[in-house]
Amino acid sequence: IKRITTHQLQNMKERGEKISMLTAYDYSMATILDAAGVDVLLVGDSASNVMAGHETTLPITLDQMIYHASSVVRGVKRAFVVVDLPFGSYQGNSSEALRSTIRIMKESGAHGIKLEGGAEIKESITRILSAGVPVMGHLGLTPQSIYKFGTYSVRAKEEAEAQKLIDDALLLQELGCFSIVLEKIPSELARRVAEKLTIPIIGIGAGPHVDGQVLVVHDMLGINKEFKPRFLRRYADLHSVMTEAVQNYVHDVKNKDFPNEQEAY
Ligand code: KIV
Ligand code: NA
Repeated sequence: IKRITTHQLQNMKERGEKISMLTAYDYSMATILDAAGVDVLLVGDSASNVMAGHETTLPITLDQMIYHASSVVRGVKRAFVVVDLPFGSYQGNSSEALRSTIRIMKESGAHGIKLEGGAEIKESITRILSAGVPVMGHLGLTPQSIYKFGTYSVRAKEEAEAQKLIDDALLLQELGCFSIVLEKIPSELARRVAEKLTIPIIGIGAGPHVDGQVLVVHDMLGINKEFKPRFLRRYADLHSVMTEAVQNYVHDVKNKDFPNEQEAY
């Protein structure tokens, strides 16, 4: 199996083939997603929510991201693996951004990094790119800035914020980013960005007129029961499947049904 490269992702945009991307945080899940044909696996800092149970993405550390990333990389044969730089590991200090990136690349074996923001983090992006590491941008709803926004509602509905987003997207492309994630913005704005830019634009809650889609894997598999935003499509109800399986196990143990003679040595 040939590994996906940034070059192939670029070709997909040019051919009009949509890019599929999901998050992954551990080896077993990464193995399944990779074999199922997902093009890009994102070791998202959403691990802070999904894996660790924090309310926001802010608490997750660089060491924890590296642990998740190295687990994912070991499960992958084909997918391109991107790792989020966690909050506090790159903002306002390009040396630290480069140092964090080098740790991720060396210690996890991932293929690229993602970070949130535009003009504010220009120096960090330039420095990481100059080290030869592919960078994916992330604009729109950027969860590391949740306390600035105050809510997780749709971003860039007003013209000023929409214009800044377009400017930031153009800047990220100019700097050399290979792709950009647009999170939770109006479909029309996402379309404008995807049409204007030559690099692949990956949407989450950004409508259909972009070059690819990303979802948090626990959300699309229906493991998280309560999280039901409009942009989410659930492809399974694993919460019910898993609950029922575990309830059956508990029942069988309590009733001395498991293990039976055939299941014993
Ligand atoms: O951390 C994450 O899961 C992400 C995606 C939602 C794009 O950044
Ligand atoms: Na993220």
